[in-house]
Amino acid sequence: MMNGDVIDPSKLNFKHIPVLLHECLDALQLKKNMVVVDATLGGAGHSREIVKQISGGTLIGLDRDTTALRYSANVLADAPVEVRLIKCNFCDIADILKSLGIKQVDAILADFGVSSHQIDTIERGFSYTQDAPLDMRMDTDANKTADTVVNCYPEAKLADLIWNYGEERYARRIAAAIVAARPIRSTGHLVDIIKNAVPAGYGKTGGHPAKRTFQAIRIEVNQELESIQKFLDGAIEMLKPQGRLAVISFHSLEDRIVKQTFKRAATDCICQPKIPQCICGHHATVKLLTKKPICPTIDETVSNPRSASAKLRVICKL
Ligand SMILES: C[S@@+](CC[C@H](N)C(=O)[O-])C[C@H]1O[C@@H](n2cnc3c(N)ncnc32)[C@H](O)[C@@H]1O
Repeated sequence: MMNGDVIDPSKLNFKHIPVLLHECLDALQLKKNMVVVDATLGGAGHSREIVKQISGGTLIGLDRDTTALRYSANVLADAPVEVRLIKCNFCDIADILKSLGIKQVDAILADFGVSSHQIDTIERGFSYTQDAPLDMRMDTDANKTADTVVNCYPEAKLADLIWNYGEERYARRIAAAIVAARPIRSTGHLVDIIKNAVPAGYGKTGGHPAKRTFQAIRIEVNQELESIQKFLDGAIEMLKPQGRLAVISFHSLEDRIVKQTFKRAATDCICQPKIPQCICGHHATVKLLTKKPICPTIDETVSNPRSASAKLRVICKL
């Protein structure tokens, strides 16, 4: 299913520490011979442990990043399971599994966002601390780049997405400054424009002044939130009874979608409270296993600061 050769892990600086690893393994309740999907394979940080627990089973690894798939193919080469790695958007999980002849799976894991490898590969343009081309694509075959968003979007659309996807209070000022400074040719140039558009000292406590705008542009380039919604619906559909879905999100926009989708799927009637008798006919298809999300321990956030905002939510199919 995958194009290209595997990559020797020793030749690639693929550093990504799996987040909430033990919590995910506990949540998935893995056993020998299970069929498991890792919807965000990355560097196979989670999958290299998953395969040890499902020996004789099948691991289906999805990612839209070709480098991640090639690297992981090598990491998983000796795994005691059948490994099937597929380049795709995880939003298509249901169709992909059906096309493989798989009707239901035992467990699904998703660990949203970008990998450390993607952030640390400077030329991919995800980082606001390095000067690079305006790219930010997880799938380097996709058409839309950060350049399109930054240089071609109308000011109002840009302001809305920085506000909605970055939750950035200076969204309108930043959008106006970007439009006035076009053409913008690099991430370093963009960071300078953002810094000049916000009040001096902004970001001293809440992180880098460009952090929220970069998050917003990345979400738009990769259509991340739409993909997450469609993925969750497809993943729930494809779970076996008693099968488990564990999802790690990294910011409030992702977590809100996960929380609301899980809550709705775990609820029988979803009629407006003022309606005296149920007319929706909705039935719960899952049980919520985490009323509150599981967060990293202090030890984990100290050893891996990128885990700090992680939230794990888990459901079980009825
Ligand atoms: C946080 S990393 C996963 C790291 C992995 N769990 C590990 O420990 O090595 C997220 C991965 O998901 C991929 N990804 C994000 N959104 C995706 C989508 N909509 N479809 C497919 N892959 C996606 C990214 O390319 C990235 O490799």
